[in-house]
Parts: sequence; structure tokens; C-alpha cells
Amino acid sequence: MRLVMIGSGYVGLVSGACFADFGHSVVCVDKVEDKVESLRKGLIPIFEPGLDALVASNAKAGRLSFSTDLAAAVRDADAVFIAVGTPSRRGDGHADLSYVYAAAREIARAVTGFTVIVTKSTVPVGTGDEVERIMREENPQADIEVVSNPEFLREGAAISDFKRPDRVVIGTVEPRAIEVMKDVYRPLSLNEAPLMFCERRTSELIKYAGNAFLAMKITFINEIADLCERVGADVQKVAKGIGLDKRIGDKFLHAGPGYGGSCFPKDTLALAKTAQDHDSPMRLVEATVAINDNRKRAMARKVIAAGGGDVRGKKVAVLGLTFKPNTDDMRESPSIAIIQALQDNGAVISAYDPEGMEAAKSVIDGVVYATSPYDAADGADVLVLVTEWDAFRALDFARLKTLMNAPLLVDLRNVYPPQEVMRHGFEYHSVGRKS
Ligand code: UGA
Repeated sequence: MRLVMIGSGYVGLVSGACFADFGHSVVCVDKVEDKVESLRKGLIPIFEPGLDALVASNAKAGRLSFSTDLAAAVRDADAVFIAVGTPSRRGDGHADLSYVYAAAREIARAVTGFTVIVTKSTVPVGTGDEVERIMREENPQADIEVVSNPEFLREGAAISDFKRPDRVVIGTVEPRAIEVMKDVYRPLSLNEAPLMFCERRTSELIKYAGNAFLAMKITFINEIADLCERVGADVQKVAKGIGLDKRIGDKFLHAGPGYGGSCFPKDTLALAKTAQDHDSPMRLVEATVAINDNRKRAMARKVIAAGGGDVRGKKVAVLGLTFKPNTDDMRESPSIAIIQALQDNGAVISAYDPEGMEAAKSVIDGVVYATSPYDAADGADVLVLVTEWDAFRALDFARLKTLMNAPLLVDLRNVYPPQEVMRHGFEYHSVGRKS
């Protein structure tokens, strides 16, 4: 099949490369010429494990190409995926759909023959209706169906999530569009991934409801963690104990410094706004947003308390800056608020992250960036583990002890068994566990 991705950002690039790997012929379109030039040379603008090799092999095989020419790419396509950004609109928290609508207009002018238009970007309920209205207004002759097909990729695991999804949600009830979408995803039938067809609005809501539910689950266990600290219980065992109940499930029950990233914060806020607009407020989601926002600064207070109640003039070494491991993405990362709050309290910050330091430099000021965990810890009074990169899972505590001013670790991801760290003479604090 001939597929086109409009937008070669995270979603467009991963989906485009994976569709090409399934054997489809894919053109990834982007407006930014430099980006397209770099992609043609095999330079991938984001850090995603396995993506560079996947792009290279499919480009070499002639199944994946990059272009700035939207009209030429769209002309002969069977399906055109809109995968442009939908950032939070400044001021009101609604999703900014201007890029989606601009793409829809341009596609409408270029389509020939029957073409399925697929919104892959995360868009509020009713966006598909508006995309369709805009396209029919722009080109009343266009033979199109507009379908919703949200993505459920996690950064850092995007390729396996794409190739082995729990499900594929497709929002259309139009028979011609159903046939095309079945062909697009036929290679997944090998993995027995269920294709779920439903109405377009339902599909749009599934995406938000899914992310909001996961964000709520994380926030719930984070609050349980706080309670565990008060009553002397262990949050990891509570998570295990409830997670063994299949109705609850054991995923997304890791307590930590609060969720970040480009999706949960934006999507929970947008869902809460949509619900308010429809006079159907979602108080659980509103509370989740507020609790998670507070949590990040609360983690800084935890570090300050561990440091004896005062970090003025003390050196705090931060390990991990990205919102989670295996990405270079700093968007809404808890590290930002934690570091700012520590700086507000007079701490001097050194930091190390395997992939995120370049991006961090543009969002966090006044930090000394180190070349390794040990370089960061040199002369530090407190070591704080914020993001659980594998590189931090087997730290050399004997070495750290000789480097640090005081052997103190605040582990905001519960990476270590407390005994293991304390055995090395460290004072150890974690989340929702004794010590
Ligand atoms: C999330 C969803 O997991 C994907 O299904 C969805 O497609 C994507 O958003 C999206 O809408 O595009 P992502 O933001 O890449 O994916 O990352 P997650 O792995 O979900 O982690 C999000 C945040 O939650 C991270 O800050 C992570 O550290 C935190 N988290 C996650 C926890 O604190 N505890 C957990 O148990 C799980």
C-alpha cells in the first residue's frame, strides 16, 4: 500500500518506519527542509532505541522516503496519516489543533482517487468531524473518509509497542475505510493484535481515557506511597499485592516523582478541559493533574528533609534528567521542578544524564553538567536519583562514598533495595518504603 505520514516527528517517524518495515511504501513528509535533508542522510532527530537502524534499512530497501512536497506525496496515496503536533495551547490548556487543520486543508487540495485520511495525532473528541468539514469545504470533490487511529506508543519502547500492540483502535464505521485500514494493519494479524473498530468520536476518546487512566493509576500509587511512609508500610509490596488482582493489573504502579513527558501532562489537562466544556467535569482527572503538579516540588522538599532540613550552599548531585529512561525528552520532566525548587532553596546542582543533557541545557539554568555519575557526585552532600536509567542501576557505592562529602542517597525511583545501599554506609531514602 502507499502510505503518507504528514509530520516526521516522534509519532510520524516511528509509525512511518514501522509501516515500511511491514512492507508498505511510505513517504514521511515534513515542512522543515533541514529535518528532511537530515533524515535522508539517515540522521534521526530523536533518541529512540532501534529507530535509526529501522529507518536506514527501509530507506535502503526503497520502502521509506522523506519529502517536503506534501502534494506530490499525497496524490497517489491509499491512506494519509496526520501525525503533526498538538501541543497544549498557551493559556487555557486545550490542545492546539492549528497544525492538524492546516495539514487537512493542504491534503484536501492534493488528494486524487479514494483516500483514507487518518488522524494519528492525539486530538480531542470531535476533531475528526472538523477535519472532515474543512476538507470537504476545501475540496468538495475529494473522495475521502476521515478515520481516527490513535497511537499508544511509549517513548523508549515505541518500535515494539507499534509492532506488538495490545490493540489497534480504529475509529470509522465506513465500509471502504474499514477495508483500507484492515489492509494497512494486516501484517499485525501475525501477532494476533486485535483491531478494534468503533465510531470516530469513541476512538478519539479512547486515547484520552487511556492516558488519563494510566496517569491516575500512577498518581494513586504515589499517594499510597506517601501513606506508606507515614504508617510504615512498603509501597512496592502494596503495588505487587494489588497488582496480582487481574482486575487491577501490575503495570504502571511504580511510585516515583510524578509522571512527566509529552503525553500524560498534556492529555490529562486537555481531557479535563473538554469535560468542563461539555458540562461533564472529570474530577478524578482534575485531581490527578493537581496532585501530580504538587508532587514534583514535594520531591524537592523530601530531598531537603533528607539533607537535614537545609540545603543552602550544599551541593546536590542529580542523576537522570529526562522524564523517563531511554529517551532524550525533557518535556514536563519532574527533574525540572525538582531542580528549580532545590535551587530556590539555595542548593548548588550538578547533574548527569546519559542522553538528556543537551535538551536539559535549554530548560534548566544554573546547573553544572557532569560527564558521569561519579563526576556529578564529586564533592556532593546529597545524591538524588530522579530517572531510572540502567546506567544507574549498579552504581559503585564504595567509589561514591570516597567522592561525596556525605554518603546520602535519595532514590526517587526505588531502584535499590535499602539494605544494599546502607551496607555501604550510605544513608538511604526512597519513596514509600521504610528508611
Ligand atoms: C504514554 C503512554 O504510556 C503511551 O501508551 C501513549 O501512547 C503515550 O503516552 C502517548 O500518548 O503518546 P510515554 O509518555 O512515552 O507514553 O511514557 P510512559 O512510559 O507512559 O511514562 C510516562 C510517565 O509516567 C513517565 O514520567 C514515567 O516515569 C511515569 N511512570 C510510568 C511512573 O511514574 N510510574 C509508572 O509505573 C509508570
